Amino acid sequence: MARHLLTTQQLRDWREVSLAQAPELAMELDWLLREAVSVEVRALGHAPSEKLWQLPCDLAALTELWRRHWQAHEPLQYVVGRSPWRRFELKVAPGVLVPRPETELIVEIASQRVAEVSQDLNLDLSQGTWVDLGTGTGAIALGLAELLPNIAIHGVDCSDVALEIAAENVASVRNGIWQSRIQLHQGRWFEPLLPLFEQGLKLAGMVSNPPYIPTGMLEELQPEVRLHEPSLALDGGEDGLDCLRHLVTAGSMHLQPGGLWLVELMTGQAEAVKALLQADGGYQSITGHFDLCGIERFVSALRCNT
Ligand SMILES: C[S@@+](CC[C@H](N)C(=O)[O-])C[C@H]1O[C@@H](n2cnc3c(N)ncnc32)[C@H](O)[C@@H]1O
Repeated sequence: MARHLLTTQQLRDWREVSLAQAPELAMELDWLLREAVSVEVRALGHAPSEKLWQLPCDLAALTELWRRHWQAHEPLQYVVGRSPWRRFELKVAPGVLVPRPETELIVEIASQRVAEVSQDLNLDLSQGTWVDLGTGTGAIALGLAELLPNIAIHGVDCSDVALEIAAENVASVRNGIWQSRIQLHQGRWFEPLLPLFEQGLKLAGMVSNPPYIPTGMLEELQPEVRLHEPSLALDGGEDGLDCLRHLVTAGSMHLQPGGLWLVELMTGQAEAVKALLQADGGYQSITGHFDLCGIERFVSALRCNT
């Protein structure tokens, strides 16, 4: 790969000019420098002006990456083609949702619920088959594979772009050590797994971060999301609950007795989703879980024993 030599002073000047274009985006600019060309701004501050830095691209290319973010509002993760999530470095691209930091918690909640179920109900969910519905980059499937080392996981998404990227991530994260435990399927929610259900498969766990934004709110989203992220990953129908309604009804058909149902939601949806689970009659131990900002962002439940 061609390398480009630049002095500290050239990089400092570039940063100053770029920052002047969008002073409110200082953190994003420094993130771009770190992720795109491995330059830490703190090190830039301390280095001698004439020190030479080896960059993978020239300043014109770096300027174009920055323009795509500050002017065209492209998410920085699309600009550099990857996103850190938990301790993984995931590939991302337009057409697949950038995995969010708050979603990192969903796999911790799954693992806690498995431990509780084992203690309180003497049921072992840590050995069975799980699904990650709407897998996107494969982030949740990979997180589950790491925290629950004995489960098999089916990741499903109806987007072929998402599935291609999920497959690349499953093959590359930790050199593909979880590849044999994660199978990816294209289709709508549980549908690609119907042949397995016909052979008697019941799921130990279902985890999903489905589209949940009410259609009318999509226009209010920040431009990075509204203009660039796929509406298929965001649009939850008129009240945001279309996919969640389906996951409640279908989940109780496909989970084993005591199996875990766990989803991510947006602010204000937890009570409605708990009510859907209650009304279905197929669930017990319906519980809300809070994110680090104190928002009730997740709801879990266990499939009734009968
Ligand atoms: C909010 S994104 C979540 C992506 C990923 N799980 C994450 O947390 O970063 C929702 C995902 O559901 C997928 N999706 C939307 N409708 C679907 C459907 N009917 N069946 C399967 N997947 C669907 C989208 O393509 C998208 O990848």
